[in-house]
Amino acid sequence: MSRICLVTGAASGIGKATAALLARQGHTVIGADLQDGDIRADLSTAEGRAALVARARELTGGRIDAVVSCAGVAHFDPLTVKVNHFGAVATLDGLRPLLAAGTDPRAVVVGSIDSVHPTDPAIVDAALAGDETAAVAAARTAVDRGEGHLVYSSSKAAVSRWIRRAAATDDWAGAGIPLNAVAPGVVVTPLTRPLLDDPGMRALVERSVPMPLHGHARPEQVAPLLAWLTSPENTLVTGQVVFADGGADAVLRGDSTW
Ligand code: NAI
Repeated sequence: MSRICLVTGAASGIGKATAALLARQGHTVIGADLQDGDIRADLSTAEGRAALVARARELTGGRIDAVVSCAGVAHFDPLTVKVNHFGAVATLDGLRPLLAAGTDPRAVVVGSIDSVHPTDPAIVDAALAGDETAAVAAARTAVDRGEGHLVYSSSKAAVSRWIRRAAATDDWAGAGIPLNAVAPGVVVTPLTRPLLDDPGMRALVERSVPMPLHGHARPEQVAPLLAWLTSPENTLVTGQVVFADGGADAVLRGDSTW
């Protein structure tokens, strides 16, 4: 059955591969991104987030069956928490009423293996409290003290914890909407290519994200999991952070987490 699927970050990388897969499966795909696609919206701003929802409503008549929240950045900058946590939460919360009107509605957000790395509790706590001003201030403080790398891991930890809190509530499980996260390991996309092209940074990435199964991934390897989690076949999986990481989480956290 053809479904209406909205994918953010659809112009590049994992979002682009997922949009292409969903289209090949026969679904109607609405792509959203900064400059490209059916919806152009900057998810780092309140205006862009509102525009995403308003335009999605116009394009669909208020009914969506699947949402894949993929848009993200990895800058050592407060922008990263704005897009990766607040932009994703606004996407999911804002489109939830449209999902509730859909058929077999499902939603997924792209987290990251980085969420198991050290984070900054001040950023994570503010993000989970929904306080964007405080989260941005904490991110700025982390950057200023030379720990800008914590902004990305914190943004992904926060959004992963948010889905676990939200998934079992009346808004999501109560409305019959599975809500999950997929946490990829290293995927070769425009986001990671500059790092992987630098031998020193590549060695650092390989140490911090060991991927014994098949090594670094292509976006097309992550897309089927996102497509399945948002398909009608998924009737039981919700509130999960599913690692698609070639074994990195198993190496890094071992049997401390199971
Ligand atoms: P990418 O850079 O190829 O694609 C990201 C897309 O998000 C781009 O099209 C970009 O324009 C869009 N975007 C960025 N800021 C936006 C904004 N403010 N508003 C709307 N759209 C915006 O990156 P990639 O690798 O495909 O990343 C997709 C997601 O996967 C991100 O959330 C990223 O954090 C996550 N991820 C990526 C990994 C990797 O190794 N590439 C690993 C783990 C997670």
